Amino acid sequence: MHPFAAQLATAARIVEARLGDIITREAARGAPPRLVDATRHAVLGGGKRFRPFLVFESAALFGLSAEDAVDAAAAIECIHCYSLVHDDLPDMDNDALRRGQPTVWKAYDTWTAILTGDGLQAMAFELLSAPSTHANALTRTELVRVLALASGNAGMVGGQALDLEAERLHADARPDIAHITRLQAMKTGALIRAACEMGAVLGQASHDERAALIRFGGALGFAFQISDDLLDAEGSAADVGKATGKDAAAGKATLVSLLGLKAARAHLDETVASAIAALEPFGARADVLIEAAKFMGRRER
Ligand code: IPE
Ligand code: IPE
Ligand code: MG
Ligand code: MG
Ligand code: MG
Repeated sequence: MHPFAAQLATAARIVEARLGDIITREAARGAPPRLVDATRHAVLGGGKRFRPFLVFESAALFGLSAEDAVDAAAAIECIHCYSLVHDDLPDMDNDALRRGQPTVWKAYDTWTAILTGDGLQAMAFELLSAPSTHANALTRTELVRVLALASGNAGMVGGQALDLEAERLHADARPDIAHITRLQAMKTGALIRAACEMGAVLGQASHDERAALIRFGGALGFAFQISDDLLDAEGSAADVGKATGKDAAAGKATLVSLLGLKAARAHLDETVASAIAALEPFGARADVLIEAAKFMGRRER
């Protein structure tokens, strides 16, 4: 196994254990069993846990352990999983397969999927605001603010709106690169950038260090969505764990649809290089994050 794959697997194991405990706690508090089951389905069993990995590794630049960062990592994964549950709904991307399993609305129904996403969003912010996330209340507030901004109307939710507007309201207008870049920076880039920034917040990074991690996360997030779009165009459902070939059919605004596969791949390579360049201030401490960026250029799921 490539050392990066092993590090990603370790991050996944740590955050999944925490997420499992948190969902069990919801049940113990009296959350309805069917909703708890749907939440388990949405969160556990599959997923690369790339955003938690980024929280861990960004925090590690400042000497923090995975234990120090696990609640922030779990919180951002809750938001990510909620975004996927809603993204798959019939009125959004209408997908039946996610992480090699039926999507939540397929396994349960649409109202349970909507509520599962809603509940996950609240879980994320409860977790971040709890003392176990960080001893300092101001640091916790800052984490809440970073994740809320990245999740909301000027972040992931806004990007999802632009994605569906391009597909449904402006299907005749060919979006340009600037529009696609903005859309992707919001729908996918915002959470990836926030994962890196949350590591900086936990690690009490300097202004310049935090800015460098934000630049890294922004480029990495863009690379992440280009590679997702390439997987949709070139991958198989068996490898990727979700239906492929759907973006072109739906008329999604992607760099692949605008520029073609070859130019989109060249754009991906350039974006990976600019992500790596942003890590320069950290020197060899950032080797694991550099590997994460390189993984974007060649990922298969
Ligand atoms: C898929 O995200 C949705 C996008 C933002 C492109 P991931 O590729 O991180 O999905 P999982 O969590 O590994 O399933
Ligand atoms: C989804 O982008 C991004 C978010 C869920 C915020 P996609 O619609 O391309 O993600 P997949 O391909 O369904 O995972
Ligand atoms: Mg979508
Ligand atoms: Mg989708
Ligand atoms: Mg996709």
